[in-house]
Amino acid sequence: MYNDKVMDHFLNPRNAGEIKDADGIGEVGNAKCGDIMRMYVKVENDVIIDVKFRTFGCGSAIAASSISTEMLIGKTIDEALEITNKDVVDELGGLPVVKVHCSVLAEQAFKVAIYDYAKKNNKTYAGLEGFNPDDLDDAHDH
Ligand code: FES
Repeated sequence: MYNDKVMDHFLNPRNAGEIKDADGIGEVGNAKCGDIMRMYVKVENDVIIDVKFRTFGCGSAIAASSISTEMLIGKTIDEALEITNKDVVDELGGLPVVKVHCSVLAEQAFKVAIYDYAKKNNKTYAGLEGFNPDDLDDAHDH
């Protein structure tokens, strides 16, 4: 059901933990499965220099969080905001259809973390236009 890459990121998650002096934090949850994901970002000159995560959730959510941190580190904020849950799934080499919502949680978590950073620093990014964490539905397949 799960490919080797998904299993590897589940069993050996990269960048798990917290960033004490994070520049932005995003916490999201899925009411249906009860899983919760929190992402911390550290930003310097509009580049994401560090990301860590805490995920209380299923294996796919942990794998999606883990791989997202690798995809985000070193990207500019604008580049990071272009990453979608589909990219996360592709990078993992695929997830079972019933587990796609777990990747949505990852996309939401890092977007909320970047939003938090932007808000605290009075910054605006095209990729955040119209984005409001309060409007987030519970993660669903899309
Ligand atoms: Fe809830 Fe995977 S089952 S995020």
